[in-house]
Amino acid sequence: MKIITSVRKMQAWADQRRSEGRCIALVPTMGALHAGHDALVRTALSSADDVVVSIFVNPTQFGPQEDFNAYPRYLDEDVEILGKLSSRLTVFAPGVGEMYPADIEADRISVDVGDMSRYLCGKFRQGHFEGVATVVLKLFHACRPHVAVFGLKDAQQFVILSRLVRDMLLDVRMVGVPTVRAADGLAFSSRNACLSPGQRKAAVVVSQAVHGAEEAIKEGEQRSEALVEIMRSILRREDDARVQYADVVDADTLQPIKEILPGQHVLAAVAVYFGGTRLIDSVFTQAPADQGIEKHDEES
Ligand code: PAF
Repeated sequence: MKIITSVRKMQAWADQRRSEGRCIALVPTMGALHAGHDALVRTALSSADDVVVSIFVNPTQFGPQEDFNAYPRYLDEDVEILGKLSSRLTVFAPGVGEMYPADIEADRISVDVGDMSRYLCGKFRQGHFEGVATVVLKLFHACRPHVAVFGLKDAQQFVILSRLVRDMLLDVRMVGVPTVRAADGLAFSSRNACLSPGQRKAAVVVSQAVHGAEEAIKEGEQRSEALVEIMRSILRREDDARVQYADVVDADTLQPIKEILPGQHVLAAVAVYFGGTRLIDSVFTQAPADQGIEKHDEES
């Protein structure tokens, strides 16, 4: 499998493939690949001729208190996993100097994501989504993909990056892959490995909470306060679970909602600590259409 580490070589490779009429899909990752990434790569393989998997632990999306140095780096193992998947894969694994030529402190231009970073995870991770949007824009320029594949588990990231593509007129088709879950419902994440056996068992409440909210929305609950209480009450079943947030927001703007409108697309999301390990989960769902209006239409 081809491994490219320089931006110039990556661009030359992509230009060559494009000139041959081949469609390129990009799967941006920070490595430490797991079953969730496997689903992203498989989706990419079915959407394009060539797939680039980028492996880059991006320093600008980690806050000062966060674990940039401790973040797992398993490049050899990741390359081995990918090598077994398909011969149509190329790995792009640049160093920090390639992605931030003037150094991370000295690079002056970055992407401002506006108030979309004020809600959910953004409230607790200052500068995180600016770092994500900046590095993804750079990865798009380096890899020149037609299609970009992301996991819907990082729901806020997906919404913000979809807006980046739309607002910056980028010619990239965004594909979101549904969250891959263990048999008990826990979403796959590199962080699950940090849970003790007891915490791992207890962590099932995280997915139960967001699915509880989804069910209530489908049954017609419109009050965000009631939905938040449903999620919190499920999370309270486990003493070890420390809730950072439980929220229901508009799925396109990420703005908080008081009362869901009929037919509105919403995102119910939580972030929960088990010891020092922070887990996130969320569901995109749509409120039922206004029954009254439908009935009226049928009658007329
Ligand atoms: O989701 C991730 O792993 C990262 O945020 C991404 C999109 C690769 C950007 O560094």
